[in-house]
Amino acid sequence: QIKEKNLFYEINRKVGLYFYHNLTKIPNPALEYLTNRGITPKTLASFGLGYANNSWDDLVLYLQKEGYQLEDIQKCGLIRANKQNGYYDYFRNRIMFPIFNIRGEVVGFGGRVLDDALPKYLNSPETKIFNKSNTLYGLNFARKNISNGQIILVEGYMDVIALHQAGFKNAVASLGTSLTKYHGQLLKKYCDEIILCFDGDTAGIKATMRSVDILTEEKCQFRIMMLPQGKDPDDFIKLHGSDKFREQINKAMSLTDYKILLAKNEHANNTIYDNMKLAKRLSEIIRDIKSPIEQEAYIEKASAETGISKEAIKKEIYGQNPKLS
Ligand code: CTP
Ligand code: MN
Ligand code: MN
Ligand code: MN
Ligand code: MN
Repeated sequence: QIKEKNLFYEINRKVGLYFYHNLTKIPNPALEYLTNRGITPKTLASFGLGYANNSWDDLVLYLQKEGYQLEDIQKCGLIRANKQNGYYDYFRNRIMFPIFNIRGEVVGFGGRVLDDALPKYLNSPETKIFNKSNTLYGLNFARKNISNGQIILVEGYMDVIALHQAGFKNAVASLGTSLTKYHGQLLKKYCDEIILCFDGDTAGIKATMRSVDILTEEKCQFRIMMLPQGKDPDDFIKLHGSDKFREQINKAMSLTDYKILLAKNEHANNTIYDNMKLAKRLSEIIRDIKSPIEQEAYIEKASAETGISKEAIKKEIYGQNPKLS
């Protein structure tokens, strides 16, 4: 069992180096792609990025030549069997991101297309050494760089890499899957506060709302960043630079403030109807606040923003027999 796992680590490491080596062949579409996206040679090396050649059997042939058994390579999720009992490479013509476990062993890969083809990313399947629900991309690097107790949690490979390159070496990503209970426990073990920084799109907002439920359940401290519409952390750094990103981290919000901001964005027109909708939504949000003092403060704000009286908002929150009146 341990022997088999060690063999799988060895195969994955070997393949990672092989993909990395492929980048040195020129001309190379993957190197060109990564360079165009602003990835430096140093970053390429430290994250071990690579290229899976545009071939059906490149890896099959390479690993066989190195003396590995096809069954073992298949169990690593790197090749697949076809109907004729032959094998073909799982990753073809893709930018390769090795996924490391906490000890820095390669446990799998993410592979990105070089254009707009779908699926954009292909990930290694679950194997004896790779379990998506307990892996955080970049944690092996980030754990040594937890500055002021924070971890920045982002969506994607490129976000982690762009942030590390920009000096935010405490960024990690869940691998496209939604955050699990186990991720929450892992994050809690390595930091005091999680800064959630998902993409500024509908999917990112949904992922944020799902994640905060889990983080709350696991009793993790967290704050939330809201990126501009359509932008992810990688885009943001490219557009505005790291100083601006640092400012955004410092402005990261509590869950209540985040919900309020979402509600305000949703009901931004100053019509009576919008103000009414906003006041109702704010009442729901305030109802969930535990501290009466905080509630009171937010009621004040909600009233100022919607032009609806505090009395009406309180009635909305507490029902017809208000606890506070
Ligand atoms: N993802 C995945 N499979 C997909 C799409 C996404 O596993 N088909 C995961 C990847 O880990 C990806 C993350 O979800 O990095 C976030 O997806 P998305 O925001 O769509 O991609 P980006 O990371 O922004 O990728 P890029 O900047 O390269 O377009
Ligand atoms: Mn996204
Ligand atoms: Mn996207
Ligand atoms: Mn992106
Ligand atoms: Mn993205």
